Amino acid sequence: MATKVTTVKDGPLMVKGQIEVLDPQGQLITTSTDTAYFCRCGASGKKPFCDGGHKKISFQG
Ligand code: FES
Repeated sequence: MATKVTTVKDGPLMVKGQIEVLDPQGQLITTSTDTAYFCRCGASGKKPFCDGGHKKISFQG
């Protein structure tokens, strides 16, 4: 089954499937085999992951 990336309205990117998340140096941050959420608003304190900060800034997109 393919990994699926969905843009959540006014929120993060939702990634469902098996992924590896790497830092800028190529080091493994974490793996996920279920669902991961990535910030696209810029307000997260846990980048690259969403921490719900998009709600505080009323992100639209
Ligand atoms: S999208 Fe959720 S904190 Fe940025």
